[in-house]
Amino acid sequence: MADVVQLDGRQVRLRDFRHDDLDASLRVVGDDRVTRWLSFDSLTREQQAERLAGAIKRAAENPRSEWYLGITTQTADDLIGFARIGLSGVKAGKLGYAIAADHWGNGYATDAAQVMITFGFQVLDLHRITAAIGPDNAASIAVVKKLGFAREGRLRDHVFTNGAWRDSDLYSVLVHEWKAPPEAQQSHSHDASRQ
Ligand SMILES: CC(C)(COP(=O)(O)OP(=O)(O)OC[C@H]1O[C@@H](n2cnc3c(N)ncnc32)[C@H](O)[C@@H]1OP(=O)(O)O)[C@@H](O)C(=O)NCCC(=O)NCCS
Repeated sequence: MADVVQLDGRQVRLRDFRHDDLDASLRVVGDDRVTRWLSFDSLTREQQAERLAGAIKRAAENPRSEWYLGITTQTADDLIGFARIGLSGVKAGKLGYAIAADHWGNGYATDAAQVMITFGFQVLDLHRITAAIGPDNAASIAVVKKLGFAREGRLRDHVFTNGAWRDSDLYSVLVHEWKAPPEAQQSHSHDASRQ
């Protein structure tokens, strides 16, 4: 069995998805305010049920190539977003995240991304983590800038979303540039007994 992961940041908890996350996850991927910035259009309940089942199935694969985790606060188990690292290339990972619009502006994405990146470098032994962000996505650009990512360049017509091609700007952080927050170093519970 693949690893079971639960990661704590300062405010958020990241954990594997469950089938009963469907309604809460729809408040993220079924909301145009969120998906206008993502690489896919808002999903229906049926589409998200299928995606959720796929994510749960892939999480059980060994070796695991994707850590697609639900975000909750540390005081409630309801999903408020997701973060993902997908392995890609040589010791490289692609980072993605989204937070339900009602919860924007609380530092949750920054905290969750920080946890994922620390996990990527310390546990997955990655060398490089990238994030591809729509050039107009000021909130997401603010998140990666706060975390010390460097802008590498423009990916032209990178995604087809909301009925049109959209460029992305590629940002990256390398392992030797990353300074993990001390609290994140202590809080990874990587359940090796479930491997
Ligand atoms: C991007 C996103 C995940 C940020 O979530 P969040 O929890 O609100 O993020 P945080 O609170 O950690 O940080 C957001 C930062 O963006 C800043 N910000 C928000 N809107 C902004 C805007 N229009 N212009 C400039 N900065 C902005 C905030 O001020 C904050 O920075 P600060 O802490 O220095 O003040 C959220 O907006 C979202 O889900 N967007 C839709 C999906 C998405 O874009 N995902 C990323 C795809 S690459």
